[in-house]
Order: sequence, then C-alpha cells, then structure tokens
Amino acid sequence: MKKEKIELIKDGKRLDGRGFEELREIKIEIDVLKRADGSCYFELGNNKALAAVYGPREIHPRHLQNEKTAVVVYNYNMAPFSATDRKRPGPDRRSVEISKASRCALDPVILKEYYPKTTINVYVELLQSDAGTRTAAINAASIALAAAGIPMRDLVSSIAVGKIDGEVVLDLNAVEDNHGEADMPVAMIARTNTITMLQMDGRFTKDEFEVGMKLAEKACHEIYELQRAALIAKYSESVNANVNVNVNTGRGEE
Ligand code: CDP
Repeated sequence: MKKEKIELIKDGKRLDGRGFEELREIKIEIDVLKRADGSCYFELGNNKALAAVYGPREIHPRHLQNEKTAVVVYNYNMAPFSATDRKRPGPDRRSVEISKASRCALDPVILKEYYPKTTINVYVELLQSDAGTRTAAINAASIALAAAGIPMRDLVSSIAVGKIDGEVVLDLNAVEDNHGEADMPVAMIARTNTITMLQMDGRFTKDEFEVGMKLAEKACHEIYELQRAALIAKYSESVNANVNVNVNTGRGEE
C-alpha cells in the first residue's frame, strides 16, 4: 500500500522540534523489579521499555543445556496497549525476529562460558512504543544484565538512524518511521566501535549509509556514557547504603 506523503522537515527542524542529529530524551532507572536478578526501565522519548534478567539458572528441559556455555534467551514483547492500534497479544513474526536479532546483538559481550549448562533469560516488555523500540529494549537489557551481575566484556548500546525527506537523521520517531524513506537500527560496543547488530528497512546510497553510521556511532557513545553513569550511580548508592548500615550496626553494639 502506498504511504501518504507528509512533510517531515519544516524550516530545518523535524516535526518534534529536533535537529537532524538529535537524540530523544533518555531516562534510566535500575533495579525496578524485586523478583528479577537485574532490571532496568529505559525511556527513549515516548518509548518505554522494561527489561528483567533472570539467571544464570538451571535450564529445563535438560536437553536444551549446552555443556560448555550458558544459553541466553531473549524475549521482546510489545504490550497490547503499547501502540496506537491495539496490538494482538503474544508472539508474532516481528517479535520473534527482533528477539533473535537482539540476542545476537548482546551475545558477544556476555561471558557465557562462565556458566555452562545454565540459562540466562532476558525479558523486555514495551509498555509504550514510538519507533526504535528494539534499540530501547537492547539498551535496557544491557543495563539489566550488568545489574544482574552477569559477567560481561562491556555494555551494548543501540540506536536507529534513517532518512526522512531526503535527509539522514538520528533516532526516528513513529511518524518519521512510517513516512520516511529508510530506517536502520544499529547496536554497538561503543568503546571498541564494534557493530553487533545492523538492520535496514528502505534504501540508503553508500554515502548516506556512511553518514548514518557516523551518526549512530556518535549516539551510541552518548548512550554508553548514560548507561555507565546510571550503573555507577546505582552501584555507589548501594555501597553508601551498606556503609550506613554497617555504621549503624556498629553504634548499636557499643
Ligand atoms: O520499534 P522498532 O522501530 O524497533 O520496530 P518497527 O517494526 O520499525 O516498528 C516501528 C513502530 O511501529 C513501533 O515502535 C510501533 O510504534 C509501531 N508498531 C505498531 O504500532 N504495531 C506493531 N504491531 C508494530 C509496530
């Protein structure tokens, strides 16, 4: 079906007021779920992603065990109320494909060889969606894995770039995704500039692809710093809390 043509850039700005190279606002909260080993709530503009990590734990049924490494299982799910039109509950082709690509994006940083015969389950629920949900989900999952204490080589950071009205732009929202010419989600280990996921819907020229990759790389570095800062803030908060507990206990014994 032919898409309706709408003007996505006016006076050099996008419809939501952003410049071409501007990220949407990001909010991060760690350990928001009590039962999970690690969890993270991640907002990217109007996308709201909640990631929960369980494991390493025994794998059932046993024939799914790997003698040498842990098996990582990634579940991406859009809640029925997350989209403008109610989304049919349960897995579909899109969520199965996104789950597989996202697992592969995170796989290279997880030290799976430390936990043979176990499973590490990563669940990401999208509570609200506005394009770029798989990237928000990967960012959330990466932090939740670290918060769960899963040994990792590094964090993975993710963002999409795309083309609207002939311009290469960063971090498309849903209107831009629906009416634009291309959308390219990328995941990276920012510190080493290693690409762990690259998908593309639509068309870029080679030059546009290169401009897009540069934008994605810069944004992944920014996201990495935010992920790291959130983990450090959380970790120092717990260390300080433990210090207070120890101090209080000590005084009580005097
Ligand atoms: O969200 P992401 O960009 O990673 O994936 P997409 O397949 O390109 O979907 C773009 C957007 O379309 C989603 O973020 C949702 O806002 C919307 N969508 C929807 O409303 N219902 C679906 N079943 C799938 C996508």
